[in-house]
Amino acid sequence: MDKTFYIETYGCQMNFADSEILSAILTSASYTPCSHYRQADVILINTCSIRDHAEQRIYNRLREFVAYKKVKPRLKIGIIGCMAERLKEDLLSSQIAVDLVVGPDAYRSLPRLLQEVESGAQGIDVLLSEEETYHDISPVRLGPNKISAFVSIMRGCENYCAYCVVPYTRGKERSRDPQSIIEEARQLFHEGYREITLLGQNVNSYNCESTTFPLLMEAVAQISPLLRVRFSTSHPKDLSDDLLKTMVKYPNICKAIHLPVQSGSSRMLKQMKRKYDRIWYLDRIASIRKHIPDCGLSTDIITGFCGETLTDHQETLSLMREVGYDFAFMFKYSERPNTLAARSYIDDVAEEEKLRRLNEVIDQQQVLSFESNKKDVGKDFEILVEGISKKSKTHYFGRSSQNKVIVFENSQEKPVHIGDYAYIHITQCTAATLLGSLIEINR
Ligand code: 5AD
Ligand code: SF4
Repeated sequence: MDKTFYIETYGCQMNFADSEILSAILTSASYTPCSHYRQADVILINTCSIRDHAEQRIYNRLREFVAYKKVKPRLKIGIIGCMAERLKEDLLSSQIAVDLVVGPDAYRSLPRLLQEVESGAQGIDVLLSEEETYHDISPVRLGPNKISAFVSIMRGCENYCAYCVVPYTRGKERSRDPQSIIEEARQLFHEGYREITLLGQNVNSYNCESTTFPLLMEAVAQISPLLRVRFSTSHPKDLSDDLLKTMVKYPNICKAIHLPVQSGSSRMLKQMKRKYDRIWYLDRIASIRKHIPDCGLSTDIITGFCGETLTDHQETLSLMREVGYDFAFMFKYSERPNTLAARSYIDDVAEEEKLRRLNEVIDQQQVLSFESNKKDVGKDFEILVEGISKKSKTHYFGRSSQNKVIVFENSQEKPVHIGDYAYIHITQCTAATLLGSLIEINR
């Protein structure tokens, strides 16, 4: 009988995309996926190392799995992804030892390693590669719907921001060949998918066989006007006007940009090795607004990085107001071993102070999100219907091109279906959601 596997995924969208690649690799090696760990012969945790908190959560879960092994001794447990790459052999010898440790570039070795593990050995492959893009693997889609999917277009990162562990866990930057990306997107469209998100740590520096990111986006957008295209994540230093012009040219390229700023203080940005300053960042925002006045804007912010003063923190708050973000992911700085900051800087902002600044940033973003949503009340938006609202079976939800969630009551006479495009008139809002009424289905 085929062995069963269960994957639990933590961290960023790249990790979720990787779990889909991994599922494809294991399925073609005759493993069967299952939806609960108690049914599994192999449990894999696809891990994240970005902050200490992420790793601690994963250790807690791992303890649960390892305890279950007492009940089911044949069970094999693997740590894969960023923590595997960061901690390597240590994971095989620790108190909560696992059977298998596999880094993000070594997923093709999994079936072989699993065989070795079956015969009682421990399996490890944490080699990073300069070529691996898994370009030829058709991911098994694990997302919550059959409407939107991630397509990984590049791997790794060489920016070496002072705080960040990613260059160490995911290796050198490499772009996947454009034909395989376009083919995967086309296939998804034929299967009924209506939205794809092109993924990479820094999609703007995509470059393969003289295809730049704007050219790649254009080729994907041309598959069908009914296929929405999104992308994530952009680095401010590489966000070009060419990309903005391409976005303007194609209505199906969604008008939303996630542009992590990290800090509003040029002094901090320099310390972070971000390769841009406040003025440069605000110039990029001005250019976005000029080309795409209604563009959705979101960001990432870190509070309490090494040496951050109250003045630096105030500059972050003022930059947030100046940009007027629709949404933000906000974190307090967490020192990661081996990064430049860990090696050369002092983590000198006290934990409580990092938290206090984080709360200030969160509170302010709440106000900005609410203000941004209030401006949309009274307007009409086209959405792609993604699912049924958790709170009410008669309400459905989708996203606007600007990436805002819109909830509406479905019509009894002419109901919309998941995967339809619909026009919604916005009547109310909270800081997190727009509420509206259905005007028209655009089938
Ligand atoms: N501490 C806190 N936040 C971090 N990020 C990256 N590294 C750290 C760290 N050491 C945040 C950044 C990045 C997002 C993915 O996670 O804001 O953009
Ligand atoms: Fe976490 Fe970064 Fe790895 Fe994604 S790439 S899983 S955010 S450490």
